[in-house]
Amino acid sequence: MNRTRILGIETSCDETAAAVVVDGHEVLSSVVSSQVDLHARFGGVVPEIASRAHVELLTPVVARALVEAGIDDDHVDAVAATVGPGLIGALLVGVSAAKTLALVWGVPFVAVNHLEAHLYAALLEDPDLELPVVVLLVSGGHTLLVLMEGHGRYRILGSTIDDAAGEAFDKVARYLGLGYPGGPAIDAIAMAGDPHAIAFPRAILDESYDFSFSGLKTAVVNHVRKHPDVATEDVAASFQEAVVDVLVTKARRAAQEHGARALCLAGGVAANSQLRERLLDACVADGLRAFLPSRSMCTDNAAMVAAAGWYRLQADGPSPLDTGASPNLRLVST
Ligand code: KG4
Ligand code: ZN
Repeated sequence: MNRTRILGIETSCDETAAAVVVDGHEVLSSVVSSQVDLHARFGGVVPEIASRAHVELLTPVVARALVEAGIDDDHVDAVAATVGPGLIGALLVGVSAAKTLALVWGVPFVAVNHLEAHLYAALLEDPDLELPVVVLLVSGGHTLLVLMEGHGRYRILGSTIDDAAGEAFDKVARYLGLGYPGGPAIDAIAMAGDPHAIAFPRAILDESYDFSFSGLKTAVVNHVRKHPDVATEDVAASFQEAVVDVLVTKARRAAQEHGARALCLAGGVAANSQLRERLLDACVADGLRAFLPSRSMCTDNAAMVAAAGWYRLQADGPSPLDTGASPNLRLVST
């Protein structure tokens, strides 16, 4: 039986990543080089610095992914790269490299949507995942509640009307002086705090599946201004509790309403300890399966790109070599 080895490339934001995955689920290698140290002193990702760093890092990262996979470049069957959404300059580095390698090696190039790649992170670790599944995709740039009805068949049930969940974590962490990226910092410090110390608002927005986090962010700022001696651990824990409450409540309701058999987490915020624990509890209570990709699969990586690329290749065949980078690409059914 033919096994399709796909080299995945991810450069949409501040991680330079390459991976080799067989048939969409067998990970032979997954290399991620984070630029977090380069951006930390600016308190966020600086697009121009990200693009330059991708140019420097991509060749060694791809080389390492091939070495760790134990294959030569003439054993790659296709090259998949994230074409969007993301930072235009950063995306262009990965897309140009992928198209060049595909052309030189004489193999197909596959254009991958970064959001679809996050959805496939769960399938990569559990290819037998039963559909339909409700996926809560929470990252630095996106907060989406998606009903995945089949491969490539998505219904966006809700999204954020202002900040993305990860963005809220990053902004609150920055205000609290916890550094960048804020999600892991809040997650860590919240362990020592009381999640019920401060009753921050939860934007439930009636029956809608949309999210809003900017009011919560303002409430944190106002509370700290009014109570300068408040314990940062308590603020972090109470903020996190409010975010997780809203995310889990809506994901759970969506799964019930749409008859999903499973709830699945995706995106960088899916690495959050409290979110993982609460979603698992909700699934046990509701008789649903919970799919929590390992933390390294939640944050940006290229194994998920290679996995999504494999499904895209089966469904659509190779992508044209004139496919460009699309910074505002959306998740749509095909
Ligand atoms: O998916 P991702 O790596 O990149 C984007 O596509 O945005 O997500 C990055 C986001 C950042 O906002 C980061 O603060 C957040 O994921 N994040 C977390 C945790 N780890 C990463 N948020 C909460 N808790 C965490 N443990
Ligand atoms: Zn991402």
